Amino acid sequence: MTRHLLTLDDVTVADMEALFASAAALKAQRQQGAATGPLQGKTLALVFEKPSLRTRVTFEAGMTQLGGHAIYLAPTDIRLGERETVQDAARNLERWVDGVVARTFSHQMVERLAGYARIPVINGLTDLHHPVQILCDLFTLREKRGTVRGLTVAFVGDGNNVCHSWLQGAAKLGVHFRLACPPGYEPNAAVAAKANQEAAAAGVRAEVTHDPVSAVRGADVIYTDVWTSMGQEEDRLRRLRDFQGFQVDARLVAQAKPEVLVMHCLPAHRGEEITDEVMDGPHSIVFDQAENRLHMQKAILVALMGEKK
Ligand code: CP
Ligand code: NVA
Repeated sequence: MTRHLLTLDDVTVADMEALFASAAALKAQRQQGAATGPLQGKTLALVFEKPSLRTRVTFEAGMTQLGGHAIYLAPTDIRLGERETVQDAARNLERWVDGVVARTFSHQMVERLAGYARIPVINGLTDLHHPVQILCDLFTLREKRGTVRGLTVAFVGDGNNVCHSWLQGAAKLGVHFRLACPPGYEPNAAVAAKANQEAAAAGVRAEVTHDPVSAVRGADVIYTDVWTSMGQEEDRLRRLRDFQGFQVDARLVAQAKPEVLVMHCLPAHRGEEITDEVMDGPHSIVFDQAENRLHMQKAILVALMGEKK
């Protein structure tokens, strides 16, 4: 596995298979109450420019469970590039800690941190990608369906960071991916073009449509994310208007396969992109998905920060 995890381009299919196996073993160990300390004495810094529940708590709890320690640095603590240069921050952090999870607005910021730091840098969400989320989601789907290869995932919502990492992950593991978004909310052209090439090589399709019903027809999974991402709050009213008709509600779910799974990275804006009825309904696996953030990210931490075999 590469030193850093900035996008899903940094992992091979073999890396992903190894992570799935490791996450399953760590999950089973935890369920049996076994103590494991592969990261004893190691420290992880969480450098966050945006709020977080899942990413912060799962990385912190994960480090504790692996015998290590995590330090959370809030947006006001570090102010990367403002209080001091990114380079200086990276060159300090690498002297003290063994890895960094960075949640930043610009994707270039995590690239710069990774470029300067001689310790692993893990992307904990940027405006362009959310790789750990999609590794966790693929692990969850594998648990539910045995394999992800050949499944059809319909992503209904914004062609944003979560969608970009889905495009990459789906292409890698042979998942058909359909995005239904309003005009103007298509994914980043460069990310989509590269993912399309990989999808074609894997024999699967990556499609974009403006029609949610056609996207979910026959789908195995409906996935959604907020219409207004962190940092876009001033744009909320326009987005509420633009995304009308893109809500994942019972009527839309009924168009997919009868056993369709509904997924959401969370946090959800209930009543906007998803109804209470669907989120709390029988198709929803959103909390199993959230639980697996813990197990898969522990596997990522061990892979990047554990003793190299
Ligand atoms: N899905 C996710 O990354 O959640 P948080 O923003 O709460 O970390
Ligand atoms: N697209 C959302 C994902 C949150 C996990 C955001 O960037 O706010």
